[in-house]
Amino acid sequence: MCGIVGYIGDRQATEICLAGLKRLEYRGYDSAGIAIVRDGELEVMKVVGKLAGLAEALEENPLEGTLGIGHTRWATHGKPSKVNSHPHTSMDGRIALVHNGIIENYAELRDQLESEGFEFVSQTDTEVIVHLVDKYYEGDLAAAFRRAVKDLHGAFALGIVSADHPDQMIAARRFSPLVLGIGEGENFIVSDMGAVREWTDQVYVIDDDEMAVITRDSIELTDLEGNPIEREPYTIPWPADAAQKGGHKHFMHKEIHEQPRAMRECLLGRLGAPEKSINLEGLNLTEDEIRGLRKVVFTACGTAYHAGLVGRFLMEKLARIPAECDLAAELRARDPVVLDNTLAIIVSQSGETADTLVALREFKEKGAKVISVVNVVDSSIARESDGVVYIQAGPEIGVASTKAYTLQILTISLIAAHFADVRGAASEHELIELRRAMLGLPEQAQILLDREEDVKRVAARFFESPNALYLGRGVNLPSAMEGALKLKEISYIHAEGYSAGEMKHGPIALVEPSLFTVAIAIKGDVYDKMIGNIQEIKARSGPVIGVAFDGDTEIPRQADEVLWVPESPEMITPITVAIPLQILAYHIADMLDREIDQPRNLAKTVTVE
Ligand code: G6P
Repeated sequence: MCGIVGYIGDRQATEICLAGLKRLEYRGYDSAGIAIVRDGELEVMKVVGKLAGLAEALEENPLEGTLGIGHTRWATHGKPSKVNSHPHTSMDGRIALVHNGIIENYAELRDQLESEGFEFVSQTDTEVIVHLVDKYYEGDLAAAFRRAVKDLHGAFALGIVSADHPDQMIAARRFSPLVLGIGEGENFIVSDMGAVREWTDQVYVIDDDEMAVITRDSIELTDLEGNPIEREPYTIPWPADAAQKGGHKHFMHKEIHEQPRAMRECLLGRLGAPEKSINLEGLNLTEDEIRGLRKVVFTACGTAYHAGLVGRFLMEKLARIPAECDLAAELRARDPVVLDNTLAIIVSQSGETADTLVALREFKEKGAKVISVVNVVDSSIARESDGVVYIQAGPEIGVASTKAYTLQILTISLIAAHFADVRGAASEHELIELRRAMLGLPEQAQILLDREEDVKRVAARFFESPNALYLGRGVNLPSAMEGALKLKEISYIHAEGYSAGEMKHGPIALVEPSLFTVAIAIKGDVYDKMIGNIQEIKARSGPVIGVAFDGDTEIPRQADEVLWVPESPEMITPITVAIPLQILAYHIADMLDREIDQPRNLAKTVTVE
């Protein structure tokens, strides 16, 4: 999705904006642009395509100046084109503006402005904003901007500069994330903390309906009425080099390999020993509230939805609380009935996914208590929830989520085990065994990573297949869905994740030698049934990759290949099973030479509904 980087200081703004936007590249975009103020003039450069194209254009025609704003656009209103890309400028070319989000009342604003003589050059919703600022401008840019913002309905993170104000950059937000980087003699506007970490770890996180007037030496925060706001800076918790590949070919590969360490950090301070109870700071639920829960509803999108599906299973099986899991984009259409003592658990890596945020608000309006399981600290979802348990995965850059997924499940497992403990829903012995197994997960994850070459060999056997089927049951049905999603996202191979029990109601018609099936057949409640499903596929000449516990003697007899996972209680196997499936998808995509970290048409953070 779109990215914003603005700079005011004494360095070249183009260099800073390009480097910052580069850090946001992973979010997905289709065009890029930059506006620079220098000597009372404003200059703009835009390109369709990647930032490398913008950098090349800037090499040929350098824009020099120490105040500028840059943008990467992911098209919503109007196709990707130079004219639709940001920054957008006023008719006299003296004001430039960048925008993330969607202006819902742009059509009526456009009609009004056109009737007043403003000429539009793009098909975007954004262009109305710059003309509005121009309309209200009488020498005070901040005053004009404040008035313009009040006319807007919808979501926005905005940055604006003007040729008439070479010492000022202005920003505002509503619903779309925006952060101000605090430097020495320089300041930054960014849509994501990751874009600024290289230069500073001190930021102000802007709230809805707040704006900031930024100079080289000051940042003045106000509400939209102009009332000053006092805010403590936030310290970004990860090191400056966290968002670099660190010797890996792709971020996705690096992030897969970070899982053991990230799991350790996620467990730290929360689960000390198998005999001790779990401590979840931030959960913000009393033991009485936990005991009184009548229902838990998970809501999320994409990979996080699959983690929620595992959560549903754990809440019912372990904590014995009726549970559901909804796709955030579908929730509102269903107008869900929210009973008293319902807990909504919102799962999101970014904490900014628009559909998920809308679902969160729907639950709050209907009186549910809302907690979230989030990676990005202080993100919108985290801030709007009644409680938040951070997964502590560190920055995830690869569009295809890997470490965030396993850590979401681990965090949800901690919550479910805690609920089971408080409600007396599981025996002490069962809880101790589960907590012991959770503590062993980082080591198991490392064992799985050490087997990468074996998985790569399996990838080499199947990477040219046009179709794949992933089958699972019970707690590992979501694992099948996530395995298939990983493969299709980054390799573009058509893959379906299906309940093995449902296979005979449809997908079995697809089975033939060119379709490979990944069958998750770890020992547990559904093992025998999975063996039956494998036999059905083999009987129809379909090749099978089994996923089995170490030491299993049956699966190697049935399947063509086996991905081995160390034994653990069935309930937490979605965490270990995910790892070889991530590695399989990664190597298949790599063998096909795909753009793994930025697959076509996908964005890391989807900030539009
Ligand atoms: C996008 C990403 C996925 C992610 C989903 C939900 O589709 O490409 O990797 O799972 O959004 O994002 P969230 O940040 O809410 O977990």
